[in-house]
Amino acid sequence: MAFDQKQFDDIIREFTVDSDALHTIAADFRYDLRMGLKDPDQSSLRMLKSYVGLPTGEEKGEYLALDFGGTNVRVLRIRLDGHGKFEVLKKVAKPLRVEGIYDYVGEGSTAEQMFDFIAELVDEAVEGDHETKYLLGHTFSFPSEQTDLYNAKLIIWTKEFATAGVEGKVVNDLLKEALHRQGIDNVEPTAVINDTVAVLLAAAYKQPDTFIGSIYATGHNTCYLEPYADTADEPMILNLESGGFMKLVPNRYDVAFDEKSEKPGEQRLEKMVSGRYMGELFGMALADLLGESGKAYGFTSIDMSNIVLDEEDDDAGIRKIVAGRTGHELDKETCEQVRKLVSTLIVRSARLVTASYVGIIWQLDGEAKPRKQHIAIDGSVYEKMPLAKENIMRALYELLGEEAANVDTVLENGGSGLGAAIAAAMSQN
Ligand code: GLC
Repeated sequence: MAFDQKQFDDIIREFTVDSDALHTIAADFRYDLRMGLKDPDQSSLRMLKSYVGLPTGEEKGEYLALDFGGTNVRVLRIRLDGHGKFEVLKKVAKPLRVEGIYDYVGEGSTAEQMFDFIAELVDEAVEGDHETKYLLGHTFSFPSEQTDLYNAKLIIWTKEFATAGVEGKVVNDLLKEALHRQGIDNVEPTAVINDTVAVLLAAAYKQPDTFIGSIYATGHNTCYLEPYADTADEPMILNLESGGFMKLVPNRYDVAFDEKSEKPGEQRLEKMVSGRYMGELFGMALADLLGESGKAYGFTSIDMSNIVLDEEDDDAGIRKIVAGRTGHELDKETCEQVRKLVSTLIVRSARLVTASYVGIIWQLDGEAKPRKQHIAIDGSVYEKMPLAKENIMRALYELLGEEAANVDTVLENGGSGLGAAIAAAMSQN
């Protein structure tokens, strides 16, 4: 039996961003950008200074890169050869949480435990060499207040992290202390950047005309090169923390989910678009349709991808995923509705993200004619979620008209590591 049609239509409507709403959101985003440049307190965008501009392409040498932005932490040894060329010499990666074994991201864990674990990874990356000097670039993908390229204080955890004793601290000091405890004094952390900044640095190292960098993954955030960030100084990349953009109308699922999240009232845009949350929103809506309101089934964005991609005649894939999570067997008609619900959520996500990109383009270039440019994006949702890319393009055309031909999006895969190495190289200037 299919879901109640009226109830289903209502839910679809609530997750739909029509053309008018899309324009309004892009304009509001631009407004918050403009206000934020004058006074961040007047804006829902944090507009955090990165103390770095774009690379020249001449950056060369061997560096360490620490990529810390989700539950999987990576340390890389990278040789930069200039003009987009580089080689990863060594890469080690470990999760910060293994169910039932250890957990460095939950409330019960401390900063020392977390950074000791990371220092051990650094040791693996240098293969126990405590002699050779290395500069380390640190991609730390959480909102941080910077006073220079080294000094970044975590303002507030996002993405459901809750480790004690890190908020309000200079993260590279915590890292340095942990390295010191393990006798790794030859590794010197010199730069901290957000992952969006890393993506932009990595993309700009390879091709000019890239001014916007974005992550569209577990979390969502965007940065851009602001020509006038600091009075009369060089152009500087600003990390918008756009996941915190608030001028959006949340629907009842967004509201209910926010209430039970680690940080209620924060990260409205991110909670509506990113991979970490989309599966949960889908599950909440499905629970209503299945008459089990309030149940959390634990759907992930990977489930959502698989639902859209299921091409089996009898929707066997969809049935299996839904039965596995909810225990309900669906008929053909209901599978169609499930597919539609999932697509609607993905399309909403892509449209909201695009509205924020266009807000930046309008701010930089005015509404007449955007410059020719690439928007560099990294992240699993952009890379792998069906419907995401095509709906970004569609929304770009909807907002920019024919001028959208000047703008394309490029995948900057693994930009977090490369960007950190580039930042370490730039820290010597
Ligand atoms: C969260 C963080 C932000 C990061 C993004 C993507 O929004 O607050 O700093 O860039 O996730 O990882």
